[in-house]
Amino acid sequence: MLRNFLRDDDLSPAEQTEILDLADQLKAEPLSSRALEGKSVAAIFEKNSTRTRFSFEVGISQLGGHPVIIDGRSMQLGREETIEDTSRVLSRYLDAIVWRTFAQKRIDAMASAASIPVINALTDEFHPCQVLTDLMTIRERKGKLAGLTLVYLGDGANNMAHSLLLGGTTAGMNVRVVSPEGFQPDQQVMLDAKHRSSETGGSTTVFTDPYAAVEGADVVVTDTWTSMGQENDGLDRVGPFRELQVNAGLMRRAADEAIVLHCLPAHRGWEITDEVIDGPSSAVWDEAENRLHAQKALLVWLLDEKRR
Ligand code: CP
Ligand code: NVA
Repeated sequence: MLRNFLRDDDLSPAEQTEILDLADQLKAEPLSSRALEGKSVAAIFEKNSTRTRFSFEVGISQLGGHPVIIDGRSMQLGREETIEDTSRVLSRYLDAIVWRTFAQKRIDAMASAASIPVINALTDEFHPCQVLTDLMTIRERKGKLAGLTLVYLGDGANNMAHSLLLGGTTAGMNVRVVSPEGFQPDQQVMLDAKHRSSETGGSTTVFTDPYAAVEGADVVVTDTWTSMGQENDGLDRVGPFRELQVNAGLMRRAADEAIVLHCLPAHRGWEITDEVIDGPSSAVWDEAENRLHAQKALLVWLLDEKRR
């Protein structure tokens, strides 16, 4: 059956582990698979990107495939051709579509009309490729995922918070979210994460006090306070967030050997200090590298004949 990766819980816990294992193998031997030989994969961007764009282009090439990288604003999609018509046409040329767009319902519409796998390269609501990578990075550093405590500090209603809730609980982690009043995670996502936790032994908790949340944490994650598209939303995205800054004082509350993740781009001196991002607990550069390996694994898995 045709599979997509539109949100983190599109993968079962066992499937997530299978892809993470494959990602580790591809990291150890980057040119060992030609699974995309003769195949073309489009990566379409309606928002800016550095890591996602480069890692998909390089990854598709390393797998023997042909990457078609396009700024979505230059497509007829940007002149009111419907998402569904675009999807039907692209399905005739390509083997998979990777799309970075705005509302999740746009990528749901793309997938509904596609006859090839669709991968979410970030929407307003979810960033599942990033969180798959984050899980790979945590497992690499800690040797396991289930039972670890991960704390996310920042906008609890953004794509990273939601994906960490779904992806983290799929991996059996205890996910804590600390965000200011008015920036709490979506209620349905919380319910979906709780449902996943009941299968995996993970958990979700929403905190208001950053120090209490970080107490004993194995993994501390932050992200920008202003996501792409929110620049002019009229909300105060600085004042209520200041106490959530990931700095050395906050990190002292975390477990010994705790690691710090940030999907990047970082706003140094705002959500994270130089001292932390450049310090010994930072795993952000491995995290950025792992985008390549995790996405290659995802593509190999989704395009496997078994799933066509
Ligand atoms: N983390 C991430 O998705 O980075 P880009 O926006 O640079 O792709
Ligand atoms: N939450 C951020 C993630 C960037 C990779 C954004 O959507 O801009």
